[in-house]
Amino acid sequence: MKYVSEFSLKKLKSEKISLVTCYDYTSARIISKSDIDAVLVGDSAAMVMHGFENTVHAEIQMMCYHINAVKRAIKDKIIIADLPFLEHKKSTSDTISSIDKIMKSGAHAVKIEGAFGNLNLIETLTKAGIPVMGHLGLTPQSINAIGSYKVQGRKSSEAELIIEQAVELENAGCFAIVLELIPKNLASEITSKIKIPTIGIGAGNGTDGQVLVLQDLLGMNEDFNPKFVKKYLNGYEATLRALNSYHKDVVELKFPTDDESFT
Ligand code: KIV
Repeated sequence: MKYVSEFSLKKLKSEKISLVTCYDYTSARIISKSDIDAVLVGDSAAMVMHGFENTVHAEIQMMCYHINAVKRAIKDKIIIADLPFLEHKKSTSDTISSIDKIMKSGAHAVKIEGAFGNLNLIETLTKAGIPVMGHLGLTPQSINAIGSYKVQGRKSSEAELIIEQAVELENAGCFAIVLELIPKNLASEITSKIKIPTIGIGAGNGTDGQVLVLQDLLGMNEDFNPKFVKKYLNGYEATLRALNSYHKDVVELKFPTDDESFT
């Protein structure tokens, strides 16, 4: 997909939307050749690429560095980037200056976590021509308030609040909403209630699309096995095996051979 308007078109045509996170040039080159619809430079970069314990540690400079790298390889897919922790709670002019940096680094749209308290900003941005993706359910930037990465919206009062927020985000002009870690029935209900597409992660198969962290679907972390992730590769094992084969070849004088040497 090249334009955010295609998100709604896909929903109209009942075609599912696939998103994956990406933070680096080499992975982005492969994604650019794939059928994946759109790329999210998520603030999960703070955890996946930098080893921080949560996304609170992502900053504008970090995000722009990753967006730039991804943009060098992705030419014809939409790039959405997270607005990092607290950036949307600054003065409007500071927030807009941060978003300006994100967009000039190569993003086509920004993702903002939460609804209440952000609706005026989202309306201002969408009216200014900046596409905004919402994010409800588990909002990882609030992990210190939530306590743990647990399913949200199990109680009917919580579920109603998430539905209300989804409607408000649509009214504020969001072009899509990520629904993270909520029961599948709730995600389906939201999906049928709003016209903009819902993109699920840990939200079942009733959403209009799915997003996964690239390293999770590639199985790069053997210790990370949440219920909602499907590993399409055992990237951890495959990489470890390759590294150990290389090491063995070096110590046994099997690499380099004449094939890899210059006469
Ligand atoms: O930062 C991220 O990777 C995300 C996805 C989990 C949706 O926000």
